[in-house]
Amino acid sequence: MPHGNYKNRKEIQMKNIRQNLIGKAVAYRDSMALFWVFELDLIKHLGASNLTAQALSDASKAHLSKVHALLAFMVEVSLVAHNLEDNTFSLKAENSDYLLENYAELKDEACYFREQLEQWVNLSFPVSGTDADDSELPESKMFNEGNGLVEYLRMVKNANKAHAEFLADNFKDIFPSDMFNKVLDLGGGHGAYSQLIKAAFPTAEVQLVDLPNTVAASQEINKGNAAMDQVLMKVGDAFDTSTYDNNYDLILMNDLLHSFSHENKQLLVRNCVESLNNGGYLAISKVKHAFTEKENNFNLSIKLNVNTGTGYLESDHELENILKAQNLALYKVISHGHKVTYIVRK
Ligand SMILES: C[S@@+](CC[C@H](N)C(=O)[O-])C[C@H]1O[C@@H](n2cnc3c(N)ncnc32)[C@H](O)[C@@H]1O
Repeated sequence: MPHGNYKNRKEIQMKNIRQNLIGKAVAYRDSMALFWVFELDLIKHLGASNLTAQALSDASKAHLSKVHALLAFMVEVSLVAHNLEDNTFSLKAENSDYLLENYAELKDEACYFREQLEQWVNLSFPVSGTDADDSELPESKMFNEGNGLVEYLRMVKNANKAHAEFLADNFKDIFPSDMFNKVLDLGGGHGAYSQLIKAAFPTAEVQLVDLPNTVAASQEINKGNAAMDQVLMKVGDAFDTSTYDNNYDLILMNDLLHSFSHENKQLLVRNCVESLNNGGYLAISKVKHAFTEKENNFNLSIKLNVNTGTGYLESDHELENILKAQNLALYKVISHGHKVTYIVRK
């Protein structure tokens, strides 16, 4: 093989590696461009028409230079075709029906990730070193000091809105409406689950217990939300059973375990069991994480590993074992998209 060819191949290989790596480093730029496309509703404004950049700028009320830049992005990612004959832009024919029919849903889903990106950036920090104190890590700092908590809670609430509705509907189907006297939403944060459970079981006293700064942030994001007036918000610590009651008929603990070590996950489950009446139910919702499942959520797992010292997204199997070790009878497993809920009985 001629020497020149070999050198060429090596160079191409190095270029590919570099492009791949740097591509990952700057992927946020594509994300931001897409968020702006949705913010300005450029897809909707294009609709089924061929528009010049100026016409699109007029329709979206965005500055022409911004529209130019975003059109270049949309062409690059094959959302839009540039029609050179008349210098107009149109949605790519093969995508346009789907994009327009599902626009609102796509926009909602994409914009949720804009909030999430903000959280990732806020919480990012150097991961070098192994002995960082957990309380110094971004997630604990945010909970302890309160900075950025309002935005964080809004993001978590949006992310869980559909799941909270789905779960409350399911609970309504499974249990009679007067089934529970007292319910605890432990680490309930934004309160979306609490308020829907209260609506489904109107005679129950529903308590939301969370850390002090979270309770304050939750009150802030729920200002004017009458449904939350029906929920008793209390400051407490899931690790300290003396900060909440010990006679609940139902405890919800959703997306809390993933911030902690195996031992602390065990402790939290034990605390819930201790605080339940005999025959009471514990419902734990989590992001699915099973190696055999398509809905693995490695991204979330990476984020948690980085943002918390010892926290990690537990596998479904690990949680099942923790529940088994507490002699809890498995009552029902409810799967919904990337979430799974284990309902067990004391
Ligand atoms: C990811 S959010 C989940 C919120 C809600 N349960 C849901 O599923 O959408 C985690 C929540 O746990 C709360 N939290 C963290 N540590 C806690 C602790 N030691 N005791 C009580 N709540 C805690 C946070 O303040 C936050 O509201």
